Amino acid sequence: MKKIEIMETVALSSPHLFGLLVTRSEDGRRNVMGVSWFSFASLKPAKMVFCLGSKGYTGEVIGKTGVATLCLPTEQIEKKAMACCKSSGRDTDKIASLGLETILPEGFDVPAIVGSRIAWALKLDQTMQAGDHTVFLADITAAAQLSDEPSLYAFGGYSELKSVE
Ligand SMILES: Cc1cc2nc3c(=O)[nH]c(=O)nc-3n(C[C@H](O)[C@H](O)[C@H](O)COP(=O)(O)O)c2cc1C
Repeated sequence: MKKIEIMETVALSSPHLFGLLVTRSEDGRRNVMGVSWFSFASLKPAKMVFCLGSKGYTGEVIGKTGVATLCLPTEQIEKKAMACCKSSGRDTDKIASLGLETILPEGFDVPAIVGSRIAWALKLDQTMQAGDHTVFLADITAAAQLSDEPSLYAFGGYSELKSVE
């Protein structure tokens, strides 16, 4: 046993969940970012918790619109999913530049990304400041299965996306 730095546990605790968080701003511009810091928070009622960098574009949009869609991408869109983590929707139209296709499942306000296994429609309940991130608690208002393919996880401290099945 040895004492280690907290930062080292980021890679050592891999693989991490990985999702694509889709938003639509008040002027209708859609965006998608990669997230690993999310989890079910309650099943009755169904709630999801996710943590976003406090200065980030996606958190700013959700703060204004109160809705988002969280998808679990498959290998079909692995490279595009990682690319969604490398630029900001503040100055890039990632959906257009990456050629991502979207679909609006029944009961969703914000579209899901084609090539995902499942998607959840989220409605913001409350937020809490947590250091350099903001914790978002959201109601899951609908869910949809888009594919039977296994979804991706983040390996190596968020450096690589792979499926585990
Ligand atoms: C595997 C992986 C997981 C990530 N998870 C999160 C996360 O949970 N929360 C977060 O704020 N940023 C996370 N990021 C960073 C964002 O995806 C990145 O900052 C993105 O460019 C933000 O997009 P936006 O500016 O369009 O909102 C992650 C990056 C990678 C590579």
